[in-house]
Amino acid sequence: MKKLSDLDLKEKTVLVRVDYNVPLKDGKITDDLRIRASIPTISYLREKGANKIILISHLGRPEGHDESLSLAPIAKKLNQLVSNTQFANDVSGPEVKKVCNKMKKGDILLLENLRFYPGEEENSHDFAKSIVKATGANVFVQDGFAVLHRAHASTDAITKLLPSCMGLLVEKEITNLTKVLEKPTQPALLIVGGAKVSDKAPLIEHLSKKFDHIAVGGKIAADGYATDDPKIYVATDFDENAAGEKLDIGPVSTTKISEFIVDAKTIIWNGLLGYAEDPAYATASTITAEMIGEKKDATTIICGGDTTGFVENLMLSHPNLSYSLVSTGGGATLEFLLGKELPGLKALKCSAL
Ligand code: 3PG
Repeated sequence: MKKLSDLDLKEKTVLVRVDYNVPLKDGKITDDLRIRASIPTISYLREKGANKIILISHLGRPEGHDESLSLAPIAKKLNQLVSNTQFANDVSGPEVKKVCNKMKKGDILLLENLRFYPGEEENSHDFAKSIVKATGANVFVQDGFAVLHRAHASTDAITKLLPSCMGLLVEKEITNLTKVLEKPTQPALLIVGGAKVSDKAPLIEHLSKKFDHIAVGGKIAADGYATDDPKIYVATDFDENAAGEKLDIGPVSTTKISEFIVDAKTIIWNGLLGYAEDPAYATASTITAEMIGEKKDATTIICGGDTTGFVENLMLSHPNLSYSLVSTGGGATLEFLLGKELPGLKALKCSAL
């Protein structure tokens, strides 16, 4: 797969696929991890003398044009972070062309939500072509790691039209994830929490072949996840509310997981250990996040939307915490960890231009 350093970017109009599918509440961005994670590539393109930078993304799962899922608020946020960012309320056509023609060197333009148009999810060659035509792009950079498990026009068809490479975020994600999958320094520990056993059971099963310890907490443990694999430790005690609901793992289980963390040289953590939205039930998750973030002798990966949001939030008040990777992917990270080939990566590998 080509990297940014393999392409000549000087004076080029660069089309960058980002994943700005961020959580919104009442029109406000509640977690900007994916926006901040796109900045290294944008800065790199500017440093290397790219002419215009055109960003494309989806937001949510709209059915047709849905103003509540416009990317306009994201462009505003991005403008605060990197300046000189404009927004176009379309992805192709004469209006986009006009805006692109007026852009100055180093300017950024974020186009409207790709999923307002059926061609995106249909992986339409013509849809991808219309974007290239309107923007005048001559290079494509794939930096939307979180959407690489979809074969859409902006992850697949587009790579058949322009010289394509991965951006710095995609490179960082796959470097770290490949390292822990292929050569995990031992002892390797997977901590799993959250609620969806259908998502987590395949991950537990897959990584139990390679990892030394798996620790299971969260709702899946509270709901009685059971195994006879001696490598897998399932939380045994819980903090309950007055109604008897098990809302956090208890001190015995938290101590056991802490012992695994102390020894581990590789850690993947996916899924909160309790109902951490309520601070009364965030104890196990907080201790776990702090212990992992203080480790200096391990490769540490945090993944899953709730877990990354929790850790990012904690880092605001604890700037000493750091992790090898706070992954921006949801489904994409899970599929990668399960060893599946992501269509967006396959497209980059096959790109012959
Ligand atoms: C995600 O949030 O996992 C990605 O942006 C992909 O979104 P999707 O599941 O709607 O394709």
